[in-house]
Amino acid sequence: MCKRLAFEGEADSVSAMTSVLPRTEWWRSAVIYQIYPRSFADSNGDGMGDLLGIRDRLTSLTELGVDAIWLSPFYTSPQRDAGYDVADYCDVDPLFGTLDDFDSMTARAHELGLRVIVDLVPNHSSSDHRWFQEALAAAPGSNERARYMFRDGRGESGELPPNNWESVFGGRAWTRVTNADGTPGQWYLHLFDTTQPDFDWSNPWVRRQFEDILRFWLDRGVDGFRVDVAHGMIKANGLPDWTAPVAGGSMGGAAAELAASRAPFWAQDGVHEIYREWREILNSYDGERILAAEAWVDPLTDMAKWVRPDEMHQAFNFPYLETPWAAQQLRAVIDASISAFSAVEAPSTWVLSNHDVVRHASRLALTAENPQGHGIGPKSAGLPIPELGLRRARAATALMLSLPGSAYIYQGEELGLPEVISLPDEARQDPTWFRTNGERYGRDGCRVPIPWEANSPAYGFGPSNASWLPQPADWAPLARDAQGNDSTSTLSLYRHALALRRAHELGTGELEWLETGAETVLGLRNGDVLVYANTGDTAVTLPAGEALLSSGPLGDGELPADTTVWLRA
Ligand code: GLC
Ligand code: CA
Repeated sequence: MCKRLAFEGEADSVSAMTSVLPRTEWWRSAVIYQIYPRSFADSNGDGMGDLLGIRDRLTSLTELGVDAIWLSPFYTSPQRDAGYDVADYCDVDPLFGTLDDFDSMTARAHELGLRVIVDLVPNHSSSDHRWFQEALAAAPGSNERARYMFRDGRGESGELPPNNWESVFGGRAWTRVTNADGTPGQWYLHLFDTTQPDFDWSNPWVRRQFEDILRFWLDRGVDGFRVDVAHGMIKANGLPDWTAPVAGGSMGGAAAELAASRAPFWAQDGVHEIYREWREILNSYDGERILAAEAWVDPLTDMAKWVRPDEMHQAFNFPYLETPWAAQQLRAVIDASISAFSAVEAPSTWVLSNHDVVRHASRLALTAENPQGHGIGPKSAGLPIPELGLRRARAATALMLSLPGSAYIYQGEELGLPEVISLPDEARQDPTWFRTNGERYGRDGCRVPIPWEANSPAYGFGPSNASWLPQPADWAPLARDAQGNDSTSTLSLYRHALALRRAHELGTGELEWLETGAETVLGLRNGDVLVYANTGDTAVTLPAGEALLSSGPLGDGELPADTTVWLRA
């Protein structure tokens, strides 16, 4: 159980700080910057980013012009899944610092007007968590085992797993435990790594623990939670066998994804009750604290259930993220998003990159299928041409930031960082890589520590040369200090776009499509800004008008291929 704050006085000052920020349903139009703590900034030179490193670099984010930060997990963890395997939900892992460091980082963020969202991982804990260790030590049928999904195996002596489910990271989703006397015992479910046992959310005890965890962080002054695997906590009764449709077969593409979200471990109706309870807890606090769902659910009309008025505030728009750089597909997903979310009075969100997907400066120029989570490496098919990827990424970002709603930015995308394809095998750490014997590269390529200073050790990531994943030798020109004074840099593009987005109130605006006469060119109006995005491979004539922003050089009266422009209406 989480200890509530020992130092009530300080807690008050932290939440008082939160409440001076404007209360305007800020989350409906906020730009939220994802910090991946291990790769953002390292204060002590051990090669691992940490909370004090974040605190001391926060002004770079106010300069960028974002409204909030979301931090991936920094809790006590054996780090088998980079912290998404939590061993104590109410403490900071020494790798990242202490609770005091967290408070200091949060106070600084609030002082700068940045809201702070933390990650909550409720589907599973680490197998190192005391709750799981106690479950292992207890007998089948005990209260301790009932916290997790323990089941007897099938077959004559329970030697077969309870069903055929597979782990998201590859391999089977069940692991058999050994009894105290050395004989084989029950099996437990883990939708992710073996070290990430799933909780049994039908157990009220589990619900109570998480209510305490929410309150623990709310008391500390956080402005919200990004909820990990928010579509997975409830499993279908009886845990029926399930076989994923083969992508590319008769159920290929979108149909396969749709069926995947019907799997007996995803998107079960019972999850919504949990979020309604959590929403009440958040509502009982001052300020406007939010819940944001990581729910890989298709179609968008289903995802919208996560953000009904009494549930969460936002859901990550993964269908948007997964859309290729193609005008008509983009128009369709933008329409579907706005209509699905507005039907439940929620804002749409927009996102192009995060710590689980191939960075969009590479992804948008891939020429072969690359399912989410597989990653890319030296032997992947259809590797991108870097210049093309960056050009498209900049154009895609300029389009995204013109849309009404809330947008997410993943650390490093404002520097135009590509996916790191050539990581040496021995450096890789994603459990996906190990669980598939190197068949899938996994997500390390988007998690490499980011460059701050062109001429410093580890590009200024920390005070030493150390970096938990090796940084490419050619990143100096991408460092933040190298881009700061260059008006054509990707960093300048982001800063400029964010400033204009704010000045023209695009986040709270309304979208109207403009006909462009070209299949490959999108045209839209948001308030007093006209946006044209050319996803084709030839330049098109641009309507006359003052260009406010352009993702790349404009030709004479022309919008080149893979370029987005904002014009004053
Ligand atoms: C989410 C996280 C991912 C993690 C997984 C298991 O998808 O974003 O990084 O590996 O959940 O917690
Ligand atoms: Ca460190």
